Amino acid sequence: MNINQAVELVKEKLPKKRFDHSVRVAETAVKLAEIYDGDKSKAELAGILHDYSKYDDLGKMYQIVTKHELDSNLLSYGSEILHGPVCAVIMKEHYGVDDEEVLLAIKNHTTGRAHMTKTEKLVFIADYIEPGRQTPGVEEIRDLAYNQGSLDKTIYEISKRTVLYLINKDINVYDATIACLNYYNYSDERVKDD
Ligand SMILES: [Fe+2]
Ligand SMILES: [Fe+2]
Repeated sequence: MNINQAVELVKEKLPKKRFDHSVRVAETAVKLAEIYDGDKSKAELAGILHDYSKYDDLGKMYQIVTKHELDSNLLSYGSEILHGPVCAVIMKEHYGVDDEEVLLAIKNHTTGRAHMTKTEKLVFIADYIEPGRQTPGVEEIRDLAYNQGSLDKTIYEISKRTVLYLINKDINVYDATIACLNYYNYSDERVKDD
């Protein structure tokens, strides 16, 4: 699928507000790809598509998890966690997206994980800092991403904020998010392998 087809697909499916967010995520991911020597085309495609399944029927999402043997822990979560993994399956199965990095970036854009590829990192961060986001403290994260030269530090700070937010609201934290937090903890001296 090329970028124009992706834009049309998402434009038709999502409410305008969510479509506009998707465009901003794609633009932000490209901007980050320029700074961090990433693949702009992959970042843009994954950015446009990442929220395609955001408002899909939850029952159908659970069916996809079961049918495609995705992590069964997903069945304990709602669409906020499921829409990424489900979208990756739909893009691969129905729309011929076959680039593994693009699919991973879509799949893990909400939760993150340990050992993310460059494109996953770019989309994960772009989703958090795109210019429409007004989360308290987001300026600090934008500064990290644009001016401090470390994708990994940015990922850690986003994961930390996400986990703290969820805990404060007594919402369960999906395993991959914890793994992401631990892996990208830059005060940990282990050398990251990617
Ligand atoms: Fe999302
Ligand atoms: Fe998003």
